[in-house]
Parts: sequence; C-alpha cells; structure tokens
Amino acid sequence: MKVVFSLAATFFIVAFQAAGGSADAGKAVYDQKCKACHAADGAGNPGMAKMLKVTIKHLGSQEVQAKPDAELKKSVTDGIGKMKPVAGVSAKQVDDVVAYVRTLKK
Ligand code: HEC
Repeated sequence: MKVVFSLAATFFIVAFQAAGGSADAGKAVYDQKCKACHAADGAGNPGMAKMLKVTIKHLGSQEVQAKPDAELKKSVTDGIGKMKPVAGVSAKQVDDVVAYVRTLKK
C-alpha cells in the first residue's frame, strides 16, 4: 500500500514539477535536513516544538503555502523565528526543497 502511494506520489510530483526546483530531488533534501523537525508530512514534530517552545506550523497549511517561494527559501537560508538557518544546503537544494514543500500542500 505504501509503495503504491509513493509511486503515485512520484508520478504526481514529476507531472506537476515546479519550474524552478525539482520536487523529486527536494524530497531527499527534506528527508535529510527538515524531516526531524517538520515530520514527513510537514505537520511538525511535536517533541521538537515542545523542546523549542514554539508552534511549528504545518508546512502544507494555507498560511505557509501562501508565502512566495522567495520567502520560503529565505526561511531556510536565513532562519525564521526559532528555526536556525539550515546549514549545508546549496542554492539548488534550497530550490528543490521548496518545490517539495509545495507538494505538501493540504
Ligand atoms: C532544528 C529543527 C528544524 C529544522 C532542521 C528545520 N526547521 Fe523549519 N522550522 C522549525 C521551527 C521550530 C519553525 C517555527 C519557527 C517559529 O515560528 O519560531 C520552523 C519554521 C519553518 C518555516 C516557516 C513556517 C511558517 O511559520 O511560516 C518554513 C518554511 C520551514 N521551517 C522550512 C524548513 C525547511 C524547508 C527545512 C529543511 C531545509 C527546515 N525548515 C528545517 C524547525 C526546523
């Protein structure tokens, strides 16, 4: 079941790839650099939120999705609120991960 879903998701992502980054490549970046805090589906890791004493918004929420790409990229490269800048990601990887975050839209 999970495999079928991943395959379907992959086709969806490939078909609707954003012009800038590659959501496919972005998933790998997300899994490595974001998932620990933001959870696989973007809902946010409650343990991390508690530790940082902050509410982590769902990355797929309308509020976050309404932000332009440039602002999402800035959150990653410069940090936002309690989130520190994410280290060790290239400009291309930031483009890719933002394209992936777009796929988390609820
Ligand atoms: C160490 C934990 C941590 C990691 C790693 C992390 N984040 Fe965050 N992120 C947070 C926290 C906590 C917030 C909420 C900050 C606040 O509101 O003070 C946040 C907020 C955000 C926001 C802003 C959401 C809003 O409120 O509008 C975006 C976008 C985001 N993160 C994307 C990412 C992406 C993409 C990655 C991976 C490249 C990533 N984050 C990695 C902890 C993390």
